[in-house]
Formats: sequence, C-alpha cells, structure tokens
Amino acid sequence: MSDTSTIPVITVDGPSGSGKGTISQILATKLGYHLLDSGALYRLTALSVIKNNLDIDDVDAISKAALELDVVFEPQAEGEQKVLLNGEDVGVQLRLDETSAMASKVAAIPQVREALLIRQKQFRQAPGLVADGRDMGTVVFPDAEHKVFLTASPEIRAERRHKQLIEKGVNANIRHLLKSIIDRDERDRTRTVAPLVPAEGAFVVDSSDLSIDEVVQQILDFIGVSEA
Ligand code: DC
Repeated sequence: MSDTSTIPVITVDGPSGSGKGTISQILATKLGYHLLDSGALYRLTALSVIKNNLDIDDVDAISKAALELDVVFEPQAEGEQKVLLNGEDVGVQLRLDETSAMASKVAAIPQVREALLIRQKQFRQAPGLVADGRDMGTVVFPDAEHKVFLTASPEIRAERRHKQLIEKGVNANIRHLLKSIIDRDERDRTRTVAPLVPAEGAFVVDSSDLSIDEVVQQILDFIGVSEA
C-alpha cells in the first residue's frame, strides 16, 4: 500500500444519535473529501451474523465474516451512500434496532475490530477523509490532523433516532429506543477494546441545543476552513 500518512483526515467520534453521521456527510461534501461510516462496517458484520445465524460466541466465524464482508459503498447525492452487501441494498436493514443491538455486541469483540482495521485505513484517499465512528481519533487514525468528539443527551439522541427511523419507514418506539441507546452507550463506553472516549486534543461539541448548521460551522471554524 502506498504511503497515505500525508492525506488529511478529520475524525468525528461520538455516540449514536449525536449527529455524527449527518455532520460527517455534510463536512465531507463541503470539503470534497471521502467519507468513512465505520459504524456501517460493524452493522454489516452484525447483519452477516444475523443472516447466517452465527453464534455470538463463535468469535472465529464472526471475525471471518468481518474480514470477508463483500460490501460496496455507492456515493449518492448530498453525501448519502448506498450500501450493498453481497450485491443487496441493505440500507434499511442496517438501521433496524436488532442490527444496532447486534452491532454493539460484535463491536466488543477485539478480533472483529482487528479484522475491520485495515479496511478502515484503506478509506484514507486523496484529497482527504472524514472518518465517522467511535475510535477514529483514538485507534484507527491516531495521527489525524483534526479530531472532533460530538455528544448530545440520551433523550435528544433517542428523539433523533426515532425521527430518522420513521423517515425511513421503520416503526419505532421512542421509550424502547431510549433504553437501547443507554444500554448501548454503557457497552460502548466500558468495553475493554477501543472504548468510546474523546481522543486527546479532540474538539468536543455538545450538539443537544445546536442546529446542524451551527455544529458544522463550529467544526469548520475549528479546522480553520472558512465557508465557500
Ligand atoms: O455509529 P453506529 O450507531 O452506526 O455504530 C454501530 C455500532 O458499532 C455501535 O454499537 C458502535 C459500534 N462502532 C464501534 O464500536 N466503532 C466504530 N468506529 C463505529 C461503530
């Protein structure tokens, strides 16, 4: 692999529902950078586990599934991405609550994280990358030029996820979502490998009371880019 260490990376880490996905898409579009939605890789692995009825304790089989994911990310308008797993559009399945819960479980397996590491690093391509995840600034791209950590209260995040699911035509119960967000946070924060913590020197933004535009503007100011 050629030396990619000089290609700029902006890492955007934080819990689900903090607005990372949307903010990262907007940043990537504005800057003309590539986008890595690393959560999608964990969700895809989870989907493989579910579709192939793998046992959650069968670490070898799950790591193999992660390593061999046949996935294509097709960029769409507005920074959106179509995700194809074995040629099948799995956009809706990836967001199902069952997939989210399984993703959090597979993400706690060190061998799965290891299997997805090289694949994630391969997204570092010119002219630059916006990397969205939990450990982008701490583990995957520790040398990133700019690191951002986005947070928001669990209640706000549950509301956002609810709206997102309804828009995608998926039925969702907000109380159930809040509970699964709190449970998932706990697992993500306390796991021994790559726990969800801000990277050293990260710019921390609480998006609870900010609009998307305000968050984007704060990040652009932080990285020193004035809006075109
Ligand atoms: O961001 P998301 O909700 O799509 O992530 C899905 C799951 O994957 C979530 O439980 C956290 C985990 N994840 C992770 O452990 N590391 C990442 N870099 C991205 C996601």
